[in-house]
Amino acid sequence: MSTQRPENVPAIEDWSRLLDGKVAVVTGGGEGIGGAIARLFAQHGAALEIAEIDPERAGRVVSDVEAAGGTARAHVLDVREAADVGRLAAAVLETHGGIDVLVNNVGDYRPLAPFRSSTPETWDAMYRINFHHVLLVTHAFLEPMIERGGGSIVNLHSVEGMRGYPAEPVYGAMKAAVAQFTTCLAVAHGRHGIRVNGIGTDLCQTPQVDYISGWEEHEDLWTSWAPVGRLGWPEEQARVALFLASDLSSYVTGHNVPVDGGTRAGGGWFWSPAARRFVNRPTEL
Ligand SMILES: NC(=O)c1ccc[n+]([C@@H]2O[C@H](COP(=O)([O-])OP(=O)(O)OC[C@H]3O[C@@H](n4cnc5c(N)ncnc54)[C@H](O)[C@@H]3O)[C@@H](O)[C@H]2O)c1
Repeated sequence: MSTQRPENVPAIEDWSRLLDGKVAVVTGGGEGIGGAIARLFAQHGAALEIAEIDPERAGRVVSDVEAAGGTARAHVLDVREAADVGRLAAAVLETHGGIDVLVNNVGDYRPLAPFRSSTPETWDAMYRINFHHVLLVTHAFLEPMIERGGGSIVNLHSVEGMRGYPAEPVYGAMKAAVAQFTTCLAVAHGRHGIRVNGIGTDLCQTPQVDYISGWEEHEDLWTSWAPVGRLGWPEEQARVALFLASDLSSYVTGHNVPVDGGTRAGGGWFWSPAARRFVNRPTEL
């Protein structure tokens, strides 16, 4: 009976080791949000496989994880390249015989080109760095995940895929594609035990998106910038990724969670320090 508690409701034995014994692949796991995810997952017992284009970042995250008593291996490669992804999958599957968690984290808004001055070449580049590799890497690991009886896929996209992004509509569209792919794949493979969820990031301080340099004198703007009134940090993205990757979210699939300090929820409402209330128009109310 579908209403009877099934025997396979996952029990959480150790809340401090939520990924114990799990094999986790993190793309772009050397720095920024991916780096924070890699470090947190390793702390929670995952055997980490990091796909990273920058050898220095790759080396650093592996040393950090090992110094903290965790297990990690880095593969220096470009996830946009099918041959590189093929090598990654072969190495992971040969070593572990399978995969439990996949985090598709690589993405970039640069070079930022307003649509009027964009070209077919810039559209293609946006596609390759934000969406194509999500398909490549997911495709490479989906079958092994099915064979293992299940797993969790977490896709980092952006709040710009969940609202209108005027600065770079093509980037926004690619992130929306990742979010919709997340939802569709979840429905397609739920019965294989695979959960697929996404994170719509915003306002997170990383090497790619620097909200501090050049803005030091405008610290006070944060109260009107984000509903939570402050900048966000990679560890805060990583905690949501841990929730989605682990059995904490065993009945959650097909969703895209904005981890954005409330910017999506706030829509066009801004805190006015002068009026000491929320306003929805550019005026000194
Ligand atoms: N930081 C934010 O506020 C923010 C906002 C919206 C969306 N995002 C999304 O979150 C994800 C992570 O962003 P971030 O700010 O941590 O980025 P980041 O550029 O700081 O870090 C990305 C990591 O991926 C690696 N990488 C880049 N291209 C690669 C490739 N082709 N193959 C393998 N590795 C590659 C980089 O070397 C780096 O270690 C991205 O998808 C980004 O679009 C971030």
